[in-house]
Amino acid sequence: MNPIYVALDTTDPDYARELAERVRPYVGGLKLGLEFFSAHGPQGVRPFVESGLPVFLDLKYHDIPNTVAGAVRAAAGLGVSILNVHAQGGAAMMRAALDAAKSVSPATRVIAVTMLTSLGDEDLPGLGLKPPVGDQVLRLASLAQQCGLDGVVCSAHEIARLRKELGPDFLLVVPGIRPSGTALGDQRRVMGPAEARDAGASVLVIGRPITRAADPAQAARDIAQSLGISAA
Ligand code: C5P
Repeated sequence: MNPIYVALDTTDPDYARELAERVRPYVGGLKLGLEFFSAHGPQGVRPFVESGLPVFLDLKYHDIPNTVAGAVRAAAGLGVSILNVHAQGGAAMMRAALDAAKSVSPATRVIAVTMLTSLGDEDLPGLGLKPPVGDQVLRLASLAQQCGLDGVVCSAHEIARLRKELGPDFLLVVPGIRPSGTALGDQRRVMGPAEARDAGASVLVIGRPITRAADPAQAARDIAQSLGISAA
């Protein structure tokens, strides 16, 4: 299976559709997030689901269990393959999200965000949490697993520890992937695609190295080739 999900971070639906079509042979799925969804909502998501590529709807729900369950039911009804909630919403919320998704679409995977990667050890005391971040990530990922969730979003540098602690079947969805020679942008702790896959990542979320490349199809093909994957 091709683990590359291209992040279509734009509010321009025509550009997003064009990009998706161009990279389609070389990726395993598409990721649509808050930027696209806030502009175009469920109607905007439907054409991507109908295109046949798996869609990860990255909206990071975080609210009381009843509200999250309602939102997840609606999102799962769109036919997305992966959606996510914040683990910090707690066990009851994660269970409600899982039940809601599976009641509508059993194949939809529900994963959790643990700690936002924009937070560092220095931010934790202000939130009433004890550093290091990595321990909080493991604690929240374990809670997500106990609640029956399918996996977590994690940074590349957390893959090895989480894979070891949480077993081979838990989905580890990893952004912050940078093939050598591409710009870091605002990502700080990055890893190459093959290195992340070999460390145990299940899904590689890749945005700008593909979408901002002079030739996005070529960039996606090169990354796929570096993983030993040929075009679909
Ligand atoms: O362009 P880039 O490859 O950095 O895009 C990464 C994608 O993953 C973006 O859509 C970003 O919002 C998302 N993401 C991230 N770090 C997280 C969670 C999601 O970069 N911790």
